[in-house]
Amino acid sequence: MKREFQQALAAKGRDRLPNVLLVSAECAPISKTGGLADVVGTLPKSLAALGIDARVITPYHRCVKDRYHDQVEHMFSFSVDLGWRSQYCGIERLVLDGVTIYLVDNEYYFGDRIYRGGMAEGEQYAFFTRAVLDAIPNLGFFPDILHCNDWHTAMIPVLLRTQYGLYVHGKMKTLLTIHNIAYQGKFGFDFFADMLRVDERYYTSEFLELNGCAAFLKGGCVFADRLSTVSPSYAAEICTPYYGEGLEGILNARRAQLSGIINGIDTKVFNPFSDPLIAKTYDRGHLKGKQACKEALMLEMGLHAGPRTPLIAMVTRMTGQKGFDLVERVLDEMMGLDICFLLLGSGEWQYEQFMREAEERHRGRLCAYIGYNEELSHRVYAGADMLLMPSRFEPCGLSQMIAMRYGTLPIVRETGGLRDTVKPYNMYTGEGNGFSFANYNAHEMKATVEMAVNVYRGQPDAWLALQKQAMSEDFSFARSAGDYARLYIEML
Ligand code: ADP
Ligand code: GLC
Repeated sequence: MKREFQQALAAKGRDRLPNVLLVSAECAPISKTGGLADVVGTLPKSLAALGIDARVITPYHRCVKDRYHDQVEHMFSFSVDLGWRSQYCGIERLVLDGVTIYLVDNEYYFGDRIYRGGMAEGEQYAFFTRAVLDAIPNLGFFPDILHCNDWHTAMIPVLLRTQYGLYVHGKMKTLLTIHNIAYQGKFGFDFFADMLRVDERYYTSEFLELNGCAAFLKGGCVFADRLSTVSPSYAAEICTPYYGEGLEGILNARRAQLSGIINGIDTKVFNPFSDPLIAKTYDRGHLKGKQACKEALMLEMGLHAGPRTPLIAMVTRMTGQKGFDLVERVLDEMMGLDICFLLLGSGEWQYEQFMREAEERHRGRLCAYIGYNEELSHRVYAGADMLLMPSRFEPCGLSQMIAMRYGTLPIVRETGGLRDTVKPYNMYTGEGNGFSFANYNAHEMKATVEMAVNVYRGQPDAWLALQKQAMSEDFSFARSAGDYARLYIEML
């Protein structure tokens, strides 16, 4: 064990590192809609390297059952009380890459969709909340720290403190990590009273109430022992009205207990030197393979252009958060810069439709692949020259880090984790690992894209230096895992 941890533990009168149970709606590689899954899938491995036994509890979604049912071992089952209902709950165990994952099974709640939307999603995760709390004493693994993630698990600290205090659970400490404050799990208070037996006295603005509803996430912000989010900049931002989505008051009040710990990526999965999914491997000393990846990708996606035409990509959920309003406004103007554009994404209908129509207008130069495709994403990160990420807000963002690892320079708005990971190109000193702009403004974005395109075309040496700098960054989870370990120990 690291000396630093030994000393910190000794100061607390402890001699062993804390056991951690990560609670999450999704976990890569078994279930994933976005970066949350990557974080929950990667963090336990990096914590294990520090000697911390960190396990995961997550729903046994249909997609997990289809792929892993042969490797899963049934542990036990019980009934979960949800209002007047009593529902079956099975606990299964899967060990993947050395990490133990407990799976909460109920085919009605965890069917085809990880997130069912609306009230159905509320019920799905109210069930999960109760199931996790009731399963813990029988797991044969007692967590010192319950590490909850996002609104789907944010009522766990509330119930733990208000309903389970006298049980063995009373000893556990809770950390709530906010990956995205825009999703809050807001429902009428009746829902909370019915599903989770929350007492009416908690329906005040001091506790669960938010704009006439009650919110899972607010409950977690009030009751969790510690709070964190996924970058230092976002931690500061969510304490302001613009980014705080109504929770800035409670977050300001708890500022001293709110940390910002930047995410990392799985540098084994995302490694241009050994990635089996890309056309040709390469590293920062030999970037020739990247050109081969670009050619293969262009061919695959039906894009035609000369070798010095920059290929700008987006790999993203298509929501307002990701800056599609800016893209809509100036995409045609950007195409006038003589570029190729590739989108891999899915999400809100109006953005998907816009991109499909743009593909019609710019056939051969612009490709919109609407859908979710993990394998293709590797080829895009490897084959593109630039990755565009003009987010309105971005708690951390993983795509820009993955892109940099593949020598694909990010063009981002300076917000949240994008600000903390992308250093804009300085034409005087040559420093930087990407390009950035400050305001949420379409023409500011376009001007930055134009600048990147000019460097790409006009200054190949400067471009190569930037690529090498980007590829030299350490985006592994190792550093952040140390920060989490320190925080867990502090919480004991
Ligand atoms: P968010 O979690 O807000 O969606 P992040 O940048 O943190 O954003 O993480 C997104 C993750 O999901 C990245 O690993 C990215 O490669 C992946 N991803 C997003 N959209 C797609 C898609 N359509 N196909 C494949 N992977 C995708
Ligand atoms: C959320 C955020 C994203 C972050 C991810 C993992 O989905 O939108 O910025 O990287 O969670 O923490």
